[in-house]
Amino acid sequence: PDLNAYIRGLPKAELHLHIEGTLEPELIFELAARNHMAIPYSSVEALRAAYAFTDLQSFLDLYYAGASVLITEQDFYDMTMAYLRRARADGVLHAEIMFDPQTHTGRGVAIETVFAGIARALREVRAATGISSYLLMSFLRHLSEQEAFDTLAAALPLREQYNDVWIGIGLDSAELGNPPDKFARIFARCKELEFRLVAHAGEEGPAAYVSDALDVLHVERIDHGVRSEDDPALMQRLIRDQVPLTVCPLSNLKLCVVDALEQHNLARLLRQGAMVTINSDDPAYFGGYVGQNYLATAQALGLSKQELGTLARNSLESCFLPADQKQVLL
Ligand code: HPA
Ligand code: ZN
Repeated sequence: PDLNAYIRGLPKAELHLHIEGTLEPELIFELAARNHMAIPYSSVEALRAAYAFTDLQSFLDLYYAGASVLITEQDFYDMTMAYLRRARADGVLHAEIMFDPQTHTGRGVAIETVFAGIARALREVRAATGISSYLLMSFLRHLSEQEAFDTLAAALPLREQYNDVWIGIGLDSAELGNPPDKFARIFARCKELEFRLVAHAGEEGPAAYVSDALDVLHVERIDHGVRSEDDPALMQRLIRDQVPLTVCPLSNLKLCVVDALEQHNLARLLRQGAMVTINSDDPAYFGGYVGQNYLATAQALGLSKQELGTLARNSLESCFLPADQKQVLL
């Protein structure tokens, strides 16, 4: 309880969070009812019991199925508000939130609806509480380069309208077999457009995907990156350049990236001097929001209060806020 309060009290940012991954089973049932949709599970408990994953793909299948209950602007708003309430309770002062428009446009939901519902919640919470947030529009790597370009073209007319929130681009979904170079040209275009760039790499994929995310996609942060340790030269580079790694311990456990939290390399990465942060990824599916990720990791790896403070501080240092706003939080 004491450590819990200490963690909540640490000023922190959450930098690796998929908004569709915050959809709790209760809200999935509520939205399905509201939208007159059937769910192939008899109860909230039965749905939650299905969250027994063996790898990334086994999770993605349920994650995309769960997201299919999101239809209206209000649905996206309600989901986002629920996350922001949880984040606030965990002492998050700033959140950089990924969303997957292709998961919705592929089902006939307009991209305008997705932007509008999420942004309305972010703006309301910012005005009411001062908690700031940015959006990272993520491309699904199991889809084609052309589909990513089509998504960017559909979103760009909205850029001006949402320039207070939409600041960056991400890359997620099935990593193996969908290497960074598949998205070299779309990321080059997004860089020209002066978006901030991040990509998932080194979650299930090899360390070479991390190097390529840096060299080919020119990203500023690596989402996950835990497999970077397989390449000592890459590790030296990540430490030298202080490339932020947005690590998600409970996600790695639930997706069997590690067999036990006690075996997670987060502490080793941190103690080597890497710019490590702790995040929740898809908290509704992985059993804990960001505070729980800090707590479980601290207990499993014996992190000191000072190390927890470093991790929280790293999250603020690694965020995309302008320097003056960052300074206020640090
Ligand atoms: N990895 C890849 N894609 C994702 C993830 C993840 O952890 N969460 C949501 N989409
Ligand atoms: Zn992720």
